[in-house]
Amino acid sequence: MTKIIGHRGAMGYRPENTVSSFLKAIRIGAHGIEFDVHLTRDNIPVVIHDERVDRTTDKIGEVKDYTFGQIRKLDAGTWFSRDFFNERIPSLNDVLSLDVAGDFIFNIELKAGSYYYPGIENIVLKQIYDCHLENNVIISSFDHGALLEVKRLSPTIKTGALFCARLYEPWEYLKSLKCDFYHPDYRTIDKEIIKNAKMHNLPINTYTVNNENTMTDLIQADVNMIITNYPDLGIRILNY
Ligand code: G3P
Ligand code: MG
Repeated sequence: MTKIIGHRGAMGYRPENTVSSFLKAIRIGAHGIEFDVHLTRDNIPVVIHDERVDRTTDKIGEVKDYTFGQIRKLDAGTWFSRDFFNERIPSLNDVLSLDVAGDFIFNIELKAGSYYYPGIENIVLKQIYDCHLENNVIISSFDHGALLEVKRLSPTIKTGALFCARLYEPWEYLKSLKCDFYHPDYRTIDKEIIKNAKMHNLPINTYTVNNENTMTDLIQADVNMIITNYPDLGIRILNY
C-alpha cells in the first residue's frame, strides 16, 4: 500500500517545518513526515527549508551564521499566521523525539544548497542512533555525494536520491549510489517508468503531490510513498 508522507509536516495547514506542522501530520494519520535539515554555526542540525531564515522567520541571514541559541529565539510561525507566533525552528532532536507509532517514517532531507555542511552526515546519523530510529528513517538529498557518504558510514540506513528532472534508467544510477529509493518530482514520472522501476525493485517516493486526481493515479500505480502538503487528502483517497 502507498504510504502518505506529510511534506514539511502538513505545510498546507501549518507553518512548514515546525512542531505544530509535524503534530498536525501525525494527528491526520500520515504514515510519516518529510523535513529539511541544515547545520547551525555550532553544528546543531535544525529543521528549516531555506538556507536563509528570511522567508519563514522574523529575522534575516543564513542558518550557518546563527548559533543554535540564537536561531532558537526566532519566530518561525507569524509569517504564516499570527496564531503561530510561538513556533520555533525545531532541532532535529526535537523532531526525532516526537511521540509516534513504531512504524512511523522520518524522511530527513539533508539540504543541498549553494554550499555543503561538512560532517552533516555523521552528525545526523549519530542523532538517529541515539534516538533508536535507525529503522524508521530515510535520508534523502539532492546532494548524492552526501547519500553515498551516509551509506559509507552506515550501510543499513535507507537513502533516497532526490531529482527534479527526468532520468534515463534511474535504477542504473541509483544502484551506483547504493540508494534504496528513487525520489522524483511527480511531474517527471509516468506509468511506464513506475512499471519499469518496479521490475528493477526500485521503490518510488514521489514529491510534492497535492492534486487529488494525480494522487489517485499514483496510488493506483502503486508508488511506494507520496509526499504531500495535504496528508489528509492522501489518507482519504486510501480509505475510499
Ligand atoms: O523531499 C521532497 C521535497 O521536499 C524536495 O524539495 O525543496 O520541498 O525540499 P523541497
Ligand atoms: Mg524537502
